Amino acid sequence: MKIAIPKERREHEKRVAASPDTVKKFVGLGAEVIVETGAGDTSSFSDQSYKDAGASIATDAASALKDADVVLKVQRPLTKAEGTDELSMFKKGATLLSVLAPLQNKEQVQAYADAGVEAHAMELVPRISRAQSMDVLSSQSNLAGYKSVLDATAEYGKAMPMMMTAAGTIAPARVFIMGVGVAGLQAIATARRLGAIVTATDVRAATKEQVESLGAKFVMVESEETGEGEGGYAKEMSDDYKKAQAELVFEHIKKQDIVITTALIPGRAAPVLITDEMLAVMKPGSIIVDLAVENGGNVTQSKLGEIVVTESGVKLIGHHNVPSRLASDSSSLYARNLYNFLSPMINKESGSLEMNWEDEIILGTGLTRDGKVVHPLLNDGGN
Ligand code: NAI
Repeated sequence: MKIAIPKERREHEKRVAASPDTVKKFVGLGAEVIVETGAGDTSSFSDQSYKDAGASIATDAASALKDADVVLKVQRPLTKAEGTDELSMFKKGATLLSVLAPLQNKEQVQAYADAGVEAHAMELVPRISRAQSMDVLSSQSNLAGYKSVLDATAEYGKAMPMMMTAAGTIAPARVFIMGVGVAGLQAIATARRLGAIVTATDVRAATKEQVESLGAKFVMVESEETGEGEGGYAKEMSDDYKKAQAELVFEHIKKQDIVITTALIPGRAAPVLITDEMLAVMKPGSIIVDLAVENGGNVTQSKLGEIVVTESGVKLIGHHNVPSRLASDSSSLYARNLYNFLSPMINKESGSLEMNWEDEIILGTGLTRDGKVVHPLLNDGGN
């Protein structure tokens, strides 16, 4: 079985889908691995490190992909309209593992089917205990949560911890985390390590204990309404709840120095948590990192790919692709997620790929099979 790792070509993407560590593991299972030259450069993995792990190096994407049975990617293939038709280089019958955003790119899913490619969307790995080691959303969100705090401190003109010096005492920064999923929890831990006073909020009451166990204070609307939706995710809240939440946040945010927003609701635009009125009462020099900016944003004035300074002097950070800002670590963890997904499907005797379509993990990720779109989210029932 041949596994190809092409270079990622989308804008703002520095990650790569295999590390020397995972290449070595695949080779150990009898696979032949081909890495496109330079694929790991922006993640600090040299061609030589892949060679040392047992891969061969291809001079371009077409030669890496032409005989590959499995293609590992971070971002979905580029289309003809975007410049390079990456899918046209795939062998018929190849299996693709990548983050594919299928609901936003239905036509492209049809193109995988038409090209005879079996595509698996890694962000759809079910969130069950057995699949935790394959969960790309978790591995990448964790790093994004960490980096969001560092990005905030880099823009913040003050120190994070309390410092008692001969020249006087510096007060600790007050950091408020909105949305305490995987990214939010890591943001709390990171801000605490830097010595900040941390508070956090979420619509899911279950997060209170997690927040407190990290040494932060939980701030929440008093309501009978629960934010727990399906599969442990949040649901959209009622208008009354939103109003109560806005009042609570309005008072709390006046005293904050740094705010990190991470709130998402599956299948919908991110909820707006920080309005123009709230921005107007924040302290000048305070910082907001909007980690939901790629999904519409939690802050009215944040802009994707920009650092915006509001009229009252609040800086809003809206970086693209935050995990990619830590490309070496995010690639290593992403690569491990793919290895953990794929390796149980490799026949140890023959070394060939045998996808088990009875397995709920494969059913959860599989978009196309035998020339057809097969995922329930993409067929009529899911529309
Ligand atoms: P996410 O990225 O979908 O959302 C981030 C956070 O924003 C969530 O905690 C959500 O409750 C919160 N949020 C949504 N709307 C909000 C609002 N209006 N105000 C304040 N907060 C709001 O969440 P993520 O990180 O993907 O985690 C979702 C769930 O999945 C969690 O329960 C987590 O524990 C669970 N999980 C389970 C795993 C497993 O068992 N394999 C792995 C990873 C996460």
